[in-house]
Amino acid sequence: MAKGNTVTVRFDNSNSVASKFLLTSAFYLVVVALVGVLMSFMLVKPGTLPAFIDFVALRGIHLQAIIFGWLSMALMGAIYHVVPRIVKRDLYSKALGNLHYALMHVGIAVVVVTLLMGFNTGREYLEPVPLVAVAVVVIWLIFFSNILMTILKGDVPKFSPALNFILLSILYLGINYLWANFGFWNGVRDNLSVWTFAHNAVNGWFMFSMVGIFYYFIPKMTGLEGKDKPYPEFLSKVHFAFVCIFIPPSALHHLLYAEAPVNMFWKLAGEWTSVGMLIPTFIWFYIIAVSIKNSKKRIGVPGMFVVATMVFYVMNCVQGSSQSIRFINDFTHQTQWVVGHAHLALLGFISFGVFAITYWILGQFYGANAFNPNLGKGHFWLVIAGFLGMFIPLTIAGLIEGSMRGTGADFYTMREAIQGYLWARLWFGLLTMASFVVFLMNIWKVISKAKQTNFEPVTAEEREMTFTKEA
Ligand code: HEM
Ligand code: HEM
Repeated sequence: MAKGNTVTVRFDNSNSVASKFLLTSAFYLVVVALVGVLMSFMLVKPGTLPAFIDFVALRGIHLQAIIFGWLSMALMGAIYHVVPRIVKRDLYSKALGNLHYALMHVGIAVVVVTLLMGFNTGREYLEPVPLVAVAVVVIWLIFFSNILMTILKGDVPKFSPALNFILLSILYLGINYLWANFGFWNGVRDNLSVWTFAHNAVNGWFMFSMVGIFYYFIPKMTGLEGKDKPYPEFLSKVHFAFVCIFIPPSALHHLLYAEAPVNMFWKLAGEWTSVGMLIPTFIWFYIIAVSIKNSKKRIGVPGMFVVATMVFYVMNCVQGSSQSIRFINDFTHQTQWVVGHAHLALLGFISFGVFAITYWILGQFYGANAFNPNLGKGHFWLVIAGFLGMFIPLTIAGLIEGSMRGTGADFYTMREAIQGYLWARLWFGLLTMASFVVFLMNIWKVISKAKQTNFEPVTAEEREMTFTKEA
C-alpha cells in the first residue's frame, strides 16, 4: 500500500516461515544432547549397552543433527526473518519456504534412519550416503533461490554488513557441499575436500550467517541504529574483508600433523592465516562489546546470551589460533582437547548466539511475555554450568593425553588416566541436556501463545514496516 512516497510492507510470508523454523529447531537440540550423553556413557562404560547401539552411527547422528537439525534450522529461520527486513520486501515465496521446511524434516529423518542402518560414508561431517547429498543440494537450491529472489526484488542497501555476511554464508555452504560431495576426489584430495567442508561449514556457514544476523539484530536490541551506532561503519567493512581473506586458507589448520598429505607451504599458510584470524575476531568482539556497553534498552535474556557467546567466541579463537601453531598442534591433535574445542565452538559460541537470536526474534513476534524470563535465566545458568563442566575436563584430559603420548604410552593407559574427566563430561552432559529441556519448555510456552494469534506476530512493527521510498 503506497501513500505518496511512503510505503508499507507486510512480512506475512517471512513471519510464517521464520517462526516455523525457529520454533522447531530446539527439538533437534534435545536429540543432539541425548545422543551425546549416550555416546559419553559408551566411552566410560564400553560394552555395557546392547551391540546394536553403534557408536559410529550415533556419532554421525550427533553431527548431522547439529549441522542440519539444530543450527541450520535456527539460522535459516533467522535468515528468513532478517533478509526481507533488510531489503524492505516480503519473502519471495511462502510456498518455497514451506517446502524447504518440510524437506528439512524429511531429510533429517532419512539421515538418521540410513545412519542407523549402517550406511555411512565414513567421512567426518559428511556421513550421509550420496543420495542424501543430492537431496541436500536440492534443498539448498530451494533456500538460496527464495532468498535471492527476495533480494533481487527488494531495495538493496548500498552497504549492509548483515546482508553481505548472510549471502556469503549461503554461498559458502552450497559451494563447499558440492565440492566435498561431488568432486570425485580420492586419496590426498579427498582428505582436503572433507576438511575444507568441515571447516567451511562451521567457520563459514554457521559463523558468517550468525555474524550477519547479529549485525542486523544487535543495533535493534540495543536501540543503537543508524547514526547512533557506537563504532565507525568502516570497521564492519574491515571485519568483512579480513574474514574473506583469512577463513578459506585457514581450513588447512586441520591438516597440520606430520603425516598430513599437504606440503609445507600450505601448512604454513594454514598456520599463519589461522593466527591472522585473531584480527577479525577482536574487531567483531569490539563492535558487539561497545554496542552492549552503550545499549539504550534493557538487553534481557537475549542480551545475556550475547555477552556469553562473545566471551566464548574469543576463547574459541584464541584457543584455535594457538592450536594452529604446529608444535602446539603436535601436542593437542587427536586428543580430547580438540573435542573440547569443537564443543566450545559449536555449543559455547554458535549455540549461545543462536539462543540469543531465537529468544530475540520470537520475543519480537509474540511479545516480551511470550517467554518466561525466569525459565530463560534458568536455561542460561544451567547451560553455562553444563557446558563449562564438559569443556574444562575435556581440555585437561587433552593435555594429559598430549603429555603421555610423548612418553610413548599406549591408548589404554591414556584412557585409564583420563577416565575421571570422561565421567565428568557425562555428568555435566546430563546437566547440559537438562538446560536444553528448559529451553524447549520455554519454546513450548511461545507455541501456546502463538497458537492464540494463529502464529501471527502480535506487534504491528513486526508484521509490517513503513519506510519512505526514495524518488
Ligand atoms: C549434552 C550434551 C553433549 C554431550 C554429552 C556430547 C558428547 C559428545 C561426544 C561423546 C562426542 C564424541 C567424541 C569422540 O568421538 O571422542 C561428541 C562429539 C561432538 N559433539 Fe557433542 N555432546 C553434547 C552436545 C553437543 C552440542 C550441543 C554440540 C553442538 C551444537 C556438539 C558438538 C559436537 C561436535 C562438533 C563433535 C565432534 C568433535 C570432534 O570430532 O572433535 N555436541 N559430543
Ligand atoms: C581463530 C579461529 C579458529 C582457529 C584458528 C581454529 C583452529 C582449529 C584447529 C587448528 C583445529 C584442528 C585441531 C586438530 O585436529 O588438531 C580446529 C578444529 C575444530 N574447529 Fe576450530 N578454530 C577456530 C575457530 C573455530 C570456530 C569459530 C568454529 C566453529 C564455529 C570452530 C570449529 C571447529 C571444530 C568443530 C573443530 C573439530 C574438527 C574435528 O572434528 O576434528 N573453530 N580448529
